[in-house]
Formats: sequence, structure tokens, C-alpha cells
Amino acid sequence: METKKIFLPESEMPRQWYNIMADMPRPMEPPLHPGTCEPAGPDDLSPIFPMNLIEQEVSTERWIDIPDEVLEKYLIWRPTPLYRASNLEKYLQTPARIYYKNEGVSPAGSHKPNTAIAQAYYNKVAGTKRITTETGAGQWGSALSMCCSFFGLECKVFMVKISYNQKPYRRLMMETWGATCTPSPSTETQAGRSILEKNPDSPGSLGMAISEAVEAAVGDDQTKYSLGSVLNHVMLHQTINGLETQKQMDIAGDYPDVIIGCAGGGSNFAGHCLPYVRDKIHGKDIDIIGVEPSSCPTMTRGPFAYDFGDTVQMTPLMPMHTLGHDFVPAPIHAGGLRYHGMAPILSQLLLDKLIRAENVDQLETFQAGVTFARTEGFISAPECNHAVAMAIREALKAKEEGREKVILFNWSGHGLVDMAAYEAYLTGKLSDQPLPEDEIERALSAIAPLPKPKQYTG
Ligand SMILES: Cc1ncc(COP(=O)(O)O)c(C=O)c1O
Repeated sequence: METKKIFLPESEMPRQWYNIMADMPRPMEPPLHPGTCEPAGPDDLSPIFPMNLIEQEVSTERWIDIPDEVLEKYLIWRPTPLYRASNLEKYLQTPARIYYKNEGVSPAGSHKPNTAIAQAYYNKVAGTKRITTETGAGQWGSALSMCCSFFGLECKVFMVKISYNQKPYRRLMMETWGATCTPSPSTETQAGRSILEKNPDSPGSLGMAISEAVEAAVGDDQTKYSLGSVLNHVMLHQTINGLETQKQMDIAGDYPDVIIGCAGGGSNFAGHCLPYVRDKIHGKDIDIIGVEPSSCPTMTRGPFAYDFGDTVQMTPLMPMHTLGHDFVPAPIHAGGLRYHGMAPILSQLLLDKLIRAENVDQLETFQAGVTFARTEGFISAPECNHAVAMAIREALKAKEEGREKVILFNWSGHGLVDMAAYEAYLTGKLSDQPLPEDEIERALSAIAPLPKPKQYTG
């Protein structure tokens, strides 16, 4: 019988995170202070983040030790299994060998606790009492709620309103772990009130929820803000995934030709692929694909520019692919992919052609998710279905070409709290949401007055 699951013993779990900043062929352009438009330094970030995380944000050390307290908590769900998708292969009749890393086995159901636990730990060490954050689909908010409870920190989550209404059980998970969860935009912050004044029926967006969470943190020195994606330190923490995967692929005796991950702010994709990007920098031939929704096509249709990370323009300006900070994506079910920007690290790697990007329509992603569920069994989060859809496309391409490709993808989370989305799909209520070019042009006009990075592609 063929091996289905490749386990790594706990003793083999990586003890360090990998920092791609040490190996990038071209240095990243600096974030800019939102007021002065000068490069933002560590002090500019200190009202929102603790200094130990800011140090990681700017570090160029290749390997960073994982603290024992974090390793101990990682053992609750890590190392996660790598699966051979043998039933999907048979169903597709593809000569490709498909592998997926199952990050859905964490207690919160996704990859998000990989950084939530590190961020909660570093905040605890720095003396933080309360953490605020945003969440889209609720995966990040629930992960941070759990990790704050491990370290005795209070947690306050602003959840994008459309997802709050679509996914009541995510809110209950957060509350079970002791957090409070508010639909965003809310009347609790100036940012939320100003958005509601302009549009009382706003479905919310990650950019808006970030504005609210940042505002709720800066007013109080015992409170810090935590971001579940986009930033360098988040990508760093997520590399535990890719480092484990490399060991597991060695055990399987295979090496990927194609690596796939869905991309919202970029953290699961980055965590999975960055150790392999290092191999690619050193000469390996790998096609590394980030997959986004066609209704929020940040990498495939947005320019590389400076933009705010949030709607109300409170964060530093980040050099990234963006659709503009006031872009409000259609209310697709993959709430965690409804973000206007992309991680600066991934944006730079895209410019340097070390990774590439594709976008997929909502219906194709659900069709892929159902195929995956009916072959491999697992029901994927709607975000994750973007990766599944691309893996299926690549497997069918391999079949057409008659090539024995090795396809590896990151299964970023399960969809057991997203069944309302499946119901909408199975009863024919879902549709594709094409994004007209003039809407992108309108949203991008908001960044026209901002400074431009050297590698601007607008
Ligand atoms: C299961 C899952 N996958 C992917 C994402 C997208 O985020 P990121 O691009 O940071 O991995 C999310 C975000 O909420 C998620 O919940």
C-alpha cells in the first residue's frame, strides 16, 4: 500500500524560523511614515507593536530561534501531516503526484495559530495586557483568541460585518476562548463611525477592520495591535510550515515542480513556499503560484505601489501590490482573501519573478472544494479552495502534457465552520463576481497622490 500521510516526529519539528530577508536577491523598499512619508523606523511602529516583534519585522538574520514556550504550544498541533492526494489523483486520472500539507489540524482549524502563538508570547513578554485585531472569515480572530487565552491576555476582535453575519460560530469560538468580537464597521471607534456615516450598509472589509483595531490599540499603552498576515514577522512565523514540509517531502522521496497556496495577505502561502523560494534562488526550477479570488485580484491586477494597510490611512505606507486602500471587494465567502494589499515580501518576490500569481472565480473554487471533499474527504475553508482549484488545474495540465509533475499545495484550513457557504453553493445561490476595470481604476485613484516606490508598476 502506498503511504498516504507523511508524519514528522515531534523531535524533528524545526527549532528556528526562516527569514527570507537574508536571501532576497533585491532588497525590499522601506515602509514610509504616513505623515512625513520618510522611511518608517522601529520607533514609528512602537505605538502599535511591542519592540520584540518590531525587531523581527526588520531583522535580516536568516534563522531566528523559536522560544521554548512557543515550541511547547506548537506541539499541540505540530508537526502537521503531509498527505498524498492519491484519491484525487485517481479521480482526475492525472500522472501528477499531488501532495498537500494539512494546516487544518490546529485547534482553530487553520495555519493562523502558527503566528498567533508567537505574537501572543512576545506581547506577554513585553508586558502587553490586551491585544486588538481584525478578522475576515474569523480564522485569524479565533486563532488569536485561543493563543491569548494560553498566555492570559485579553483579546478584542473586530470582525468584518459580512463574515460576522455569515459565520456566527466563529464568533462563538472566539468567545469560548475568552475574547470579545464586534462586527466592523462599528460605532465603537472614530474610524468605524466615519465609514458608517458614508455608507451605513457597508459590508465591511479587512482594511476597515484593521483601522478600527489599530485605533483601539493606540489610545492605550497596555494595549497592542496584532496583524494576522501581510507583515514580515507574520511570514517569518509561518515558515515553520514550509520547513516541516521540506523534511516530509524528503521522506516521501519527492521534490515539488509546482507549489501552490491561496493568498489573502499572503501568510499561509509565504509560510509554505518561502523555504522553497530559497532553493529557487539557489537554482532549483520550481513554479510557485499564489492564488487569489478574481474579485480581489491584488497581485494579478493591482500595481506595485505604496499604500496604506488600512482603509482610514493609519498604518505606515507599505510597498506592495494593491488595489487601493478603499477598495471593497465583493462579499465572496472567502472572507480571508478580501484584502486590498499583499505582503511586501511576496510583492517583491513577484516583481523578481520568483513567484507568480493567478486568480480564480468563486464557482470554480467551490466546485474544486466539493471534488476534494468527495475524493480526499476533507472539507476545505473557502479560502483554501482557491489552492485546491489551482492544484486541480495543474494536475489536469499535467495530464494533457502527459507529465509526471509533482504538485504540492498548502491546505490552509478546514471549512467546517463555513458550511453556510457550501449551502449557498450546493443550492445554486452562488455566483461569480466579475470585477470591472473601471472599479479598479476608481479605487486606485485613492493612491494616486501617494509617493511611488522605485519599482512602481502603475
Ligand atoms: C483558511 C485560510 N486560508 C487562507 C487565508 C488567507 O490569509 P493569508 O493569505 O494570510 O494566509 C485565511 C484568512 O483568513 C484563512 O482563514
